Amino acid sequence: MTQEIALTGIKPTGTPHIGNLFGAIQPAIAMAKSYSALYFIADYHALTTVRNQKAMQEQIRQVAATWLAAGLNPDEVIFYRQSAIPEVFEFTWVLSCLAPKGLMNRAHSYKDAVAKNEAKRLDSDKGVNMGLYNYPVLMAADILLYSAHKVPVGQDQKQHLEIARDIAQAFNQSYGELLVLPEPIIQEAVQTIPGIDGRKMSKSYDNVIPLYLPPKDLKKRINQIVTDSKGVDEPKDAESCNLFQIFKLFATPQRIAEVELAYTEGGLGYGHLKAELFELLDTFVAPGRKTYTHYLTHPQELDRILAQGAKKARAIAQAKLKQVRQAIGMDS
Ligand code: TRP
Repeated sequence: MTQEIALTGIKPTGTPHIGNLFGAIQPAIAMAKSYSALYFIADYHALTTVRNQKAMQEQIRQVAATWLAAGLNPDEVIFYRQSAIPEVFEFTWVLSCLAPKGLMNRAHSYKDAVAKNEAKRLDSDKGVNMGLYNYPVLMAADILLYSAHKVPVGQDQKQHLEIARDIAQAFNQSYGELLVLPEPIIQEAVQTIPGIDGRKMSKSYDNVIPLYLPPKDLKKRINQIVTDSKGVDEPKDAESCNLFQIFKLFATPQRIAEVELAYTEGGLGYGHLKAELFELLDTFVAPGRKTYTHYLTHPQELDRILAQGAKKARAIAQAKLKQVRQAIGMDS
């Protein structure tokens, strides 16, 4: 039996953090055990917002190194850069000719940009580039070109998957059942990972704990976790304390129970718990940090891995695009 295909795109914006690890990276790596997996760096999607050459290059490398450090095996998963596969852009044009404009008008990120402008009484399309507007079509091409069955994504990408299905259906209606309708696998944040301020950990709140910080910076970041100002001896509320919630992700069940009791009874200071969390987290990330640092200091190795993935991905893309070109009457 041939395996179903799982595919996902990783946008290289912002430094990867522990929320990404639990919410996206680990589940995707686990999925690669039971699917034929293609995971790629969505660098041309990042171009809708990143305007700096150096930042772009750094973020691509950081994100690639992070996935490898977290355990992605490039011999098991086809791991590549979107921009290395020119076929996807030709396919994007084909799909954009089948995508109703009204559907794009209703895409969340475009609608949000318009709403923000209108709230400020600005021109509704101010600052909106065509890349942002066409973003869902490129994403549909990313998915449909590789005939992906399952697409692991966060809740925020659900609409993009619906759009991809709609476009695939429109194509199939005109040209026959050539495109696979993809299904999202929504990573319900098993536990929502709180950031240092207690809100969901997210780069847009600037409250993240980056994954592979040098120990000194990691310690500093942990010390920035916001708590109330209760003294050592005072009883505290574990449930509402984000320091405790983050601690729980890394401590043993026994230690969690002890600390929970100490919260109720008093006697444990936040400073102490932060020091303990630092030790735990530092131990947890140390092996990955080593791999991560290795790749960032040997970018040619990263490039080689991604090129090897691109070669495999491109063969699939070329075969599919050939069928598409035939179907639409371009190959004669
Ligand atoms: N839009 C996705 C995000 O922001 C990234 C992405 C691009 C993607 N192409 C994709 C995800 C294809 C899944 C499948 O997270």
